[in-house]
Amino acid sequence: MADPSSLLYQRVAKSIMRNKAMLVTAGAGIGIDSGLPDFRGKEGLWKAYPYFKNTNMSFTDAANPRFFSMKPKEFWFFYGHRYNSYQDHLPHSGFHALLKVCREYLGDKYHVYTSNVDGHFQKAGFNKRQVTECHGSINHFQCDKCRTIYLVPHRKRFELDIKNFVCNDIPKCKDCASPVRPNILMFGDREWISSRKAKQEGRLRDFLSTNNKDGITIIEIGAGTAVPTIRMASESVFCEPHSQRTLIRINPDPGNHSMYGINYDVINESNINKCEEEITENELFEIKESSKLALKKIREAVKDFS
Ligand SMILES: NC(=O)c1ccc[n+]([C@@H]2O[C@H](COP(=O)([O-])OP(=O)(O)OC[C@H]3O[C@@H](n4cnc5c(N)ncnc54)[C@H](O)[C@@H]3O)[C@@H](O)[C@H]2O)c1
Ligand SMILES: [Zn+2]
Repeated sequence: MADPSSLLYQRVAKSIMRNKAMLVTAGAGIGIDSGLPDFRGKEGLWKAYPYFKNTNMSFTDAANPRFFSMKPKEFWFFYGHRYNSYQDHLPHSGFHALLKVCREYLGDKYHVYTSNVDGHFQKAGFNKRQVTECHGSINHFQCDKCRTIYLVPHRKRFELDIKNFVCNDIPKCKDCASPVRPNILMFGDREWISSRKAKQEGRLRDFLSTNNKDGITIIEIGAGTAVPTIRMASESVFCEPHSQRTLIRINPDPGNHSMYGINYDVINESNINKCEEEITENELFEIKESSKLALKKIREAVKDFS
């Protein structure tokens, strides 16, 4: 019997080549193979940041504007450490494999929609005008007083007191010298300035309306269900009653399938042998592998197919 894993990838490649454009949707899981933490559950956060264990805080408490106003030095330890770490890590080879598929086989007709704030898609070479960061970006500061957003200075490093979990050089606004925060949507956040995201979303809407007729592949990578923004975005585009849609969900532990209750049979390694050869309708694939491996295998399968 043929290897079901390679059959699945062949079928995925066929769908990618049939559709003419690709929407990449991604959550924290795509960064794991680059060595970045996902902060899943309290334990996940505590492992990366013992300060939060000592104070019994969750991710919801840490990524919070209240924490910024009450304890700015500790807040900036968390975000400064994350910033330094995102700078120090490189996007893994799966990012590059995916970009090659978009460039070489889809004529650059792609858009990325990610809840990640690390800027790793741009770092991997994805065009910044084709990326929407729905939860903002750690590479931008926001001044609540001036209501402005601006880029973190090039080569910025946060000086961190690792012993006491504090950052003593809280960044200050370049115009008014007030303490600034990252331009990231936090929990219970009424202060977030969303103008940058709104511009990016405008480009995403243009991308979808331009490519609606030609079929769109949605490739969803490492998106969880606790903060379901990415899953909902993937599924809402999948369900749009336009042209052919394919949803490829890459996640070693995908859990509950549908936020919208989409009623499609999932095609995966265990049933690929029984699938019809011809693609007749929208398809939902599930690849239970890590993002790096899965994206590299997809690139190989697309290469073989074309
Ligand atoms: N790098 C970042 O920017 C970063 C990091 C952590 C959290 N966040 C923020 O936290 C929120 C968390 O939501 P979320 O859904 O993105 O994360 P999540 O932690 O809830 O879910 C991560 C998902 O990735 C999957 N996963 C684990 N290992 C994987 C791998 N090797 N390859 C592919 N998938 C893998 C898990 O099964 C899980 O479903 C988001 O709003 C995001 O903005 C961002
Ligand atoms: Zn200011």
